[in-house]
Amino acid sequence: MSTPYDDLLAALPAQPKTWLITGVAGFIGSNLLETLLGLDQTVVGLDNFDTGHQHNLDQVRTLVTPAQWARFRFIEGDIRDLDDCRRACADVEFVLHQAALGSVPRSIEDPLTANAANVDGFLNMLVAARDAGVERFVYAASSSTYGDHPGLPKQEDLIGRPLSPYAVTKYVNELYADVFASAYGMKSIGLRYFNVFGPRQDPEGAYAAVIPKWTAAMIAGEEVDIYGDGETSRDFCYIANAVQANLLAATVTDPAAINQVYNVAVGESTTLNALFAAIRDALAPRLPRLRDIEPRYRDFRPGDVRHSLADIDKARTRLGYAPSHRLGEGLAQSMDWYVEDLCGDPAR
Ligand SMILES: NC(=O)c1ccc[n+]([C@@H]2O[C@H](COP(=O)([O-])OP(=O)(O)OC[C@H]3O[C@@H](n4cnc5c(N)ncnc54)[C@H](O)[C@@H]3O)[C@@H](O)[C@H]2O)c1
Repeated sequence: MSTPYDDLLAALPAQPKTWLITGVAGFIGSNLLETLLGLDQTVVGLDNFDTGHQHNLDQVRTLVTPAQWARFRFIEGDIRDLDDCRRACADVEFVLHQAALGSVPRSIEDPLTANAANVDGFLNMLVAARDAGVERFVYAASSSTYGDHPGLPKQEDLIGRPLSPYAVTKYVNELYADVFASAYGMKSIGLRYFNVFGPRQDPEGAYAAVIPKWTAAMIAGEEVDIYGDGETSRDFCYIANAVQANLLAATVTDPAAINQVYNVAVGESTTLNALFAAIRDALAPRLPRLRDIEPRYRDFRPGDVRHSLADIDKARTRLGYAPSHRLGEGLAQSMDWYVEDLCGDPAR
């Protein structure tokens, strides 16, 4: 039996739409771009290369046909600049707003810069999208909004107090989207991503996410640090699931589904100790020297929540979301990419 996403993938090429992806040179943005161009859609992309990379765009170019690539227009610009947002939103039907400064520790070190991109930039994008009359505004929210609420699995309505400036910014996004719905009739959907991972997620830098960071460290023969005792757990979500949620959110027509926030995850919990073993075991067939490595345990990091696990029923029932990849399947595909990208390209 086909899923709502199968139906959407079959229908979209015959009805090309114009999409704006902000943060298009980043991890999630470039994966959205790859999927949408592959479906013969017209895409405008906005990015200031703050944490995104030209090489992500170059890679997407190699993965689509020249005719598909010709339907992509890139604007180098900044969401903190309202004029850039207006230029990007012109003649667009669906906005997939991904641009933001991610990372809890980065926001603790520099809350002003996080706020400028994630709150001022978000508000600029809402104003520009409203004035351009876009049909739908889908935006990257975050599981960090659950903050210190102890409930597990996380249900959309039960949130606690934020534990970092980043979490504040992502919650403010939800509040603004809600107010723009009631004050101006805007139609938006927030996607609370839970630890998304996959190809093109940046392994470099102090703020890298855990899967690319550990994978790159193992490939380079470096030690892997676990903050805490390793029993901290997360609901790791392969990028294909996040892409699916975005496309469903942009196109869903049921009024009960619109102006809502949704958990985007798999609904399965994995400890960091289990994740370490899964990455090691996925790489070991190619890099036998990794077979017996062990992690190094460090202090817990401030701002990190202990357990994070999503209830994905709301996305299932209202959006027709059905995650296609569990952790192991996503890791297998990601490891192929990391081994090829980190071992194969001397320019990286
Ligand atoms: N990856 C995850 O697990 C995860 C989890 C929760 C939420 N999110 C959210 O998803 C979105 C995408 O995250 P990602 O993992 O792809 O991160 P990323 O850093 O790879 O991508 C973000 C992109 O936004 C761009 N950007 C940042 N500030 C900008 C600005 N002022 N103007 C224009 N472009 C700007 C960056 O250059 C980058 O290309 C972010 O909003 C992030 O907060 C991600």
